[in-house]
Amino acid sequence: MKLSSGKEAEIPENALHIRGFRIFKEYLDKAAQRALVEDLREVVRAAPLFSPVTPGGKKMSVQMTSAGNYGWYSDKNGYRYAAQHPSGNDWPPIPQPVLRIWADLVSAARSPDCCLVNHYRDTARMGMHQDRDEADFSWPVLSISLGDEALFRMGNLTRGGKTESIWLHSGDVVVMGGEARLRYHGVDRIKPGTSQLLLKGGRINLTCRVVD
Ligand code: SIN
Ligand code: MN
Repeated sequence: MKLSSGKEAEIPENALHIRGFRIFKEYLDKAAQRALVEDLREVVRAAPLFSPVTPGGKKMSVQMTSAGNYGWYSDKNGYRYAAQHPSGNDWPPIPQPVLRIWADLVSAARSPDCCLVNHYRDTARMGMHQDRDEADFSWPVLSISLGDEALFRMGNLTRGGKTESIWLHSGDVVVMGGEARLRYHGVDRIKPGTSQLLLKGGRINLTCRVVD
């Protein structure tokens, strides 16, 4: 919006701001969530979910796959982006609605290279970590939550210290950019049975990243 002074006015956005994390509650309505789940069925058909192993040899409790030019991958050789699914096939394209959300909340100038699909069942969790396998941290990471509620914890630029948590619900979208881009974050637990969106329950989280 242009002011009479010629300066751009701040457009107030409908987001919670916690430690630089921009949290858009109920960004996707039920119909948009259902349509996205249908698109993700195609993704998972082409690139089945797998259970990654940490460099230390521990099986992660989330299952994952990816869409886009790169997929995030982990095994005893380390965390990295891979150009192919473990099957040797290319990753499927990122669903259009995801690209639209990215264009609306992050940038229309460049699309993400990777949409990581994390599937949390019952006791799955994600330990506190930084997203730092990407080349350019000026690009935010965009996170979309679908299905059961999850307790999302936001920390600091180094491990430890005080943290703040928020329950992410189906349809919520988080942008981790600026001062939040390298903050530690994780998912302590999900609350099984809090959403009917996924036929077999659980939670799906999508994180979109510019990789190189
Ligand atoms: C992640 O940080 O990779 C996942 C965050 C989430 O599941 O909400
Ligand atoms: Mn992360």
